[in-house]
Amino acid sequence: MTRPIAEGESVILLDIEDNKEFFYLMRAKGHINLHKGKILHAEVIGKHEGAVVRTSKGNPFLVFRPTLFQYIMHMKRDTSIIYPKDLALILFYSDIYPGSTCLEAGIGSGALTLTLLRAVGPLGKVISYEVRPEFIERAQKNVQLLLGETPNLEVKQRDIYEGIEEQGLDRICLDIPEPWRVVKNAAESLLPGGIFTSYLPTIIQVKSLVDALREEKRFTSIQTMETLLRDWHIEGLSVRPAHRMVGHTGFLTVARKGDLP
Ligand SMILES: C[S@@+](CC[C@H](N)C(=O)[O-])C[C@H]1O[C@@H](n2cnc3c(N)ncnc32)[C@H](O)[C@@H]1O
Repeated sequence: MTRPIAEGESVILLDIEDNKEFFYLMRAKGHINLHKGKILHAEVIGKHEGAVVRTSKGNPFLVFRPTLFQYIMHMKRDTSIIYPKDLALILFYSDIYPGSTCLEAGIGSGALTLTLLRAVGPLGKVISYEVRPEFIERAQKNVQLLLGETPNLEVKQRDIYEGIEEQGLDRICLDIPEPWRVVKNAAESLLPGGIFTSYLPTIIQVKSLVDALREEKRFTSIQTMETLLRDWHIEGLSVRPAHRMVGHTGFLTVARKGDLP
């Protein structure tokens, strides 16, 4: 049995003919005006995922709950976010696992927060440092809209360059401009075997970070990578890479904490 779509949830409406998706928050009295006609929210509320709804002009759309990928791409953002291709890489290379305690900075619009919350699960914990209150508000709204109440998320309005209050952390994930300023404190706060991850847009920043990680002798297995994701177009005899792709997002650097030799 699938749970029917409820008021207050966000949904994806997929135009079956054009394979185009639209993202809306369902309100009892709301309506959607598309060039293919009008859909009342009331017609979507109560439907199961995958159900067909028709516009006032009779065009069919499919109703889905957004995947985490879709939600992140459609949610409101006040900052740049980490894109799903890089979030996927972070989950695996940082080895985020159910029950783990992860600290992130800064929260931004909450894309990484949502991804970490899903991966650590209800038995894990995410602690998020952010300096700007307006971004905390935005990210918390984004989290609430998708996940509802999240007692395992602790958000602190705090500058991570001034120190990390927590000890015994399993993972630290940073999306801030000067992560090298956090390396010493991260080494103190991570458990042995803990993993430090940083996402950075330029390679000059990466160089400063890697130098700091090498200098702090407790970090090992330092690895920097980027991911280039290319879609393929497959239709009839036109079987080729997509013409457009995202050329650059950011670099991921990962390091593991051990004892001093
Ligand atoms: C690019 S945004 C993060 C985006 C976020 N990872 C996401 O996926 O939505 C960078 C954030 O770091 C915050 N920030 C910058 N320096 C910080 C610091 N020293 N301590 C805490 N947060 C900081 C900024 O205010 C901003 O919200």
